[in-house]
Parts: sequence; structure tokens; C-alpha cells
Amino acid sequence: MAFNIAIDGPAGAGKSTIAKQVAKELSYIYVDTGAMYRAMALFFLREGIPPKDEAAISAACEQIQVTLSNENGDQQVFLNGENVNGLIRTEEVGNMASATSIYSKVREKLTQLQRNMACTTDLIMDGRDIGTCVLPHAQVKIYLTASVETRGKRRFLELQEKGIDCNLETICEDIKQRDEQDMNREISPLKQAEDAVLIDSSSMTVEEVVDEILQLARKRM
Ligand code: DC
Repeated sequence: MAFNIAIDGPAGAGKSTIAKQVAKELSYIYVDTGAMYRAMALFFLREGIPPKDEAAISAACEQIQVTLSNENGDQQVFLNGENVNGLIRTEEVGNMASATSIYSKVREKLTQLQRNMACTTDLIMDGRDIGTCVLPHAQVKIYLTASVETRGKRRFLELQEKGIDCNLETICEDIKQRDEQDMNREISPLKQAEDAVLIDSSSMTVEEVVDEILQLARKRM
């Protein structure tokens, strides 16, 4: 049986940075499920489908194929064969992903893909519903969070580094709205699984969080 580590938490909690490092230490595959929701969101945006139009979004799901590959430890995400890694990190795509991930058709499609990967491969997967819904039997479950202010500042610096024009206040507002949306949707809302370990990274370094997760994982291997 494959060894699975699930990391859930709100936007900007540092899930991908942490998960990437843990994966590297263990020589595991890292799966960023947010990127999969973002790839689907990019399709809906390109088609001009309004996020509130569930029927059109559900129908469009039939035309979408999301695939992943791993290149030197970095995940590449493909939308119908096109590598869209460089196009999905904008706030516009993130907000569309949050708004459209509420629909069952969108979630079912990606949940199935994620489960298929996890049953045969040792991996660390991050998202919103990994410990609660996608991989309820994951050997290690982490709920990684941080204050809105900390998350806002991190995302601001991340976007600035990439040369993307942004404003801290707007980012914090976006984060609050995204939390609200992700935590209160009907299907698979973001919440801590009963058997998940809570880590608040507000005043922790990346290394400290990575070490804590590695310790938990090694104990259960
Ligand atoms: O982690 P992220 O910011 O890239 O995710 C973008 C959106 O995708 C997030 O706001 C909600 C949705 N998402 C989800 O519903 N379930 C997941 N497992 C991962 C992401």
C-alpha cells in the first residue's frame, strides 16, 4: 500500500512550499491539487463561462482533461495537453478556481484523478479536502494554517517576486473571501479532519514546519 501524506489548509498557509520540501526529503511525488482546480478554472475563464452558471460549468467538464507530470520535482499541469503552469497563478484564476470548485461535477472529476494517483504512489498531496474526503485513509494528515495577515504578506511577496503587480490590502481581502468560500461550501468544505494534526505556521519557519511533518511521517512509516 502506498504511503500518503495529506496537507490541507487555507490559501497562503504555505502548503506548497512545505509540501515540496517534505516530498524532496522523502523522495516522494508532490501533488498540488489546487493547480488542478486552477487549470479547470482557466478553461472556464477562456470560454467566458460565468462562475454562477453551474449547468454550463458542469457541461464544460466533459471537454476538459487535466493531467500532471513531474519534472525534476516540480509539478507541471496540462489542460487538454497544453502546459498551463505559467498561466494559473494569477488572483483571477485563483478566485475562479475557488468559485467553481463548489460544484459536484468539478470535484468528482478531480477527486477521482487524485485517488487514482494516491493508491499506487507514495506521495504528499495538498489542497482543501485531501484529509477529509480525497484520502480519508492517509497515514499522515496535517491541517496547516496561519493568520490572515501572515498569509497575505506571504502571498504579496510571492507575487512581487514573480513581477506581478499587487496590493497587500486587496490580497488580504481576497484571502478572507476565499476562506469564506472554501470553508462554507456545501461539498467537501475546507475543515480540519478529526485525525489531522494542526500546525499554525504564523510564527514558525519553513524548516520548523517541515521538520515537524517529517517526524510525524517517519513515526508512522
Ligand atoms: O491552493 P490554491 O489556492 O491553488 O487553490 C485554488 C482553489 O481551488 C481554492 O481556493 C479552492 C480550490 N481547491 C479545492 O476546492 N480543493 C482542493 N483540494 C484544492 C483547491
